[in-house]
Amino acid sequence: MIILLTGCAGFIGYHAARTLLAAGYQVIGIDNLNDYYDPALKRARLIGLQDIDGFRFHQLELTDHTALNAAAAGKGITHIFHLAAQAGVRYSLEAPRSYIASNITAHLNILELARHMDGIKHVVYASSSSVYGDRDGGDFRESDEVRAPASLYAATKISGEMLAESYARLYGIAQTGLRFFTVYGPLGRPDMAYYIFIDKVLRGEPMTLYAPDEMQRDFTYIDDITSVFEQVLSCPPAPQNGRAHEIYNLGNSSPMRLYDLVGAIEQACGKAAKVNIAPKQPGDVSRTFANIDKAQRDFGFNPRTPLAQGIKNCAAWYRDYADLSTS
Ligand SMILES: NC(=O)c1ccc[n+]([C@@H]2O[C@H](COP(=O)([O-])OP(=O)(O)OC[C@H]3O[C@@H](n4cnc5c(N)ncnc54)[C@H](O)[C@@H]3O)[C@@H](O)[C@H]2O)c1
Repeated sequence: MIILLTGCAGFIGYHAARTLLAAGYQVIGIDNLNDYYDPALKRARLIGLQDIDGFRFHQLELTDHTALNAAAAGKGITHIFHLAAQAGVRYSLEAPRSYIASNITAHLNILELARHMDGIKHVVYASSSSVYGDRDGGDFRESDEVRAPASLYAATKISGEMLAESYARLYGIAQTGLRFFTVYGPLGRPDMAYYIFIDKVLRGEPMTLYAPDEMQRDFTYIDDITSVFEQVLSCPPAPQNGRAHEIYNLGNSSPMRLYDLVGAIEQACGKAAKVNIAPKQPGDVSRTFANIDKAQRDFGFNPRTPLAQGIKNCAAWYRDYADLSTS
């Protein structure tokens, strides 16, 4: 496999690249290194990749289809792993246009690339648990209807799935969509709650919990999802009803309360949290809960990292990264 990996300087992209390079594949990484969060962290991730055999990097903007096509030409790419996106639910209220550009226009450019380039066997792309909206009841299944996005971010992720479905039907492009559920881990995303809370607890500063009595998240450790990436990429779905396109939940399937997260962080940092409570934020959903029968059946997906262990790993990395070793 020669893999075009978008968003390689991002949190999941960096870990995906390391996993696939360790398995002996060539990875052509793309990222625009935008400043949605501190680009120094993106550059630090790239430093962790650049000396690994088989890795090449192109800094480019995916909405620029001419630049994308030029970077991909003549490299013998067989697989595309499209992880680049404008992530974050709350920021989609502030900067909606960046979501349309990076999650819809850029996704279309990836699909057009796959349509016109010879030799592409499989396109795997990131979707999100947010497609399920704000709902009560049991676990979330891939067969559930997803027509009630609670945020523009969610709407763009549903749209990405629809773009993929149309290209699977029109052009026979084999595709797999992965709905990630609150993925956390070392070198993680600074806009996510666990990252902010670890920072605040280590610095002894107060943090804000939004509607903690009703919040539950299916926190999923990064190594648990990367463990199936090689298999997902190398197994394009079999055609069904005239197209080869499947969607999988990749979540821990064990929702935890926000207070459980805070407890795990206090334990990992050896300090008590100072907590302020605030109402639920617009765009937030109360709970996420992945049914993972399908990924278990097809890829042997078996998330096994307990929240306490995963958070301990994050806090150990963050102390070092932020030079908080004496905190
Ligand atoms: N981390 C999670 O919990 C989670 C949950 C659900 C879905 N996802 C999805 O997984 C994927 C990876 O998320 P992440 O957490 O690693 O986010 P991230 O922000 O760390 O990584 C995304 C990367 O894409 C790059 N990028 C964004 N727009 C671009 C563009 N127009 N051109 C080129 N590069 C661009 C960014 O610079 C960044 O490095 C995203 O599609 C996200 O929506 C993540």
